[in-house]
Amino acid sequence: MTQGTPRTHSLDVSDFNPSEMYFLLRDSILPRPIAWVSTISRDGVPNIAPYSFFNVCCPSPPVMGFSCGPRGDNHQDGTRREIDTLINIKDNRQFVVNLSPENLLDEMVASATDLPHGQSEFDFAHIQQVPSTRVKPPRVALTPVAFECELLDILDLGANHWVMGKVVHLHILESVYRGEREGKRHRVDLLESEATRPVGRLGRAFYSRIRELETVMRRDGPN
Ligand SMILES: Cc1cc2nc3c(=O)[nH]c(=O)nc-3n(C[C@H](O)[C@H](O)[C@H](O)COP(=O)(O)O)c2cc1C
Repeated sequence: MTQGTPRTHSLDVSDFNPSEMYFLLRDSILPRPIAWVSTISRDGVPNIAPYSFFNVCCPSPPVMGFSCGPRGDNHQDGTRREIDTLINIKDNRQFVVNLSPENLLDEMVASATDLPHGQSEFDFAHIQQVPSTRVKPPRVALTPVAFECELLDILDLGANHWVMGKVVHLHILESVYRGEREGKRHRVDLLESEATRPVGRLGRAFYSRIRELETVMRRDGPN
């Protein structure tokens, strides 16, 4: 028996103010991956904050992108103060995308605290940092994969900025590095141990942990 078309709330974009649209997107596009972005200020103070409006833009060249909003809960006014991550990236054109594993969930959320410019969230949230190889900002010691990036471009979108960086160097924890498999080198497995599984951002203050896996093979691969 065919069922009728489900009823919907049919809404024009103009029915939302920017703040309402932010909440709708935040609470419906999920789960989202989290870029835990480390940067460094002009004075050499390291900074780290999470960004869940984030994804891979391109594998070759490898490019990552994330969206920096204005400071505070204000999505209407592009003249609001910029967040430290953006200030630092504009200043030195480098950042590191650290993945955010389950065993660092509390530290990751604590690093979103709005501290005064010049105060490091690494110290505040007790996150162990280590020097990077090709860029100045430090990376998170215990992240499963750290992607060192050089700034490619910043796209201004309303009150937000879409920051794109080209990956120039990677650090992969030995516990997730698998080496060669089926002719491809440098394979990783972040799922084997719960500790290294990346957490996902959901709506409100909810996060997801990867607990149930299902295999569905594509007919034409790659599987
Ligand atoms: C899980 C999580 C995801 C977040 N995602 C974003 C995001 O995508 N864009 C954004 O502008 N702020 C996001 N935030 C808020 C920033 O992390 C927060 O504003 C932070 O204080 C910015 O730090 P900074 O001023 O040191 O750069 C997120 C916060 C959390 C906890």
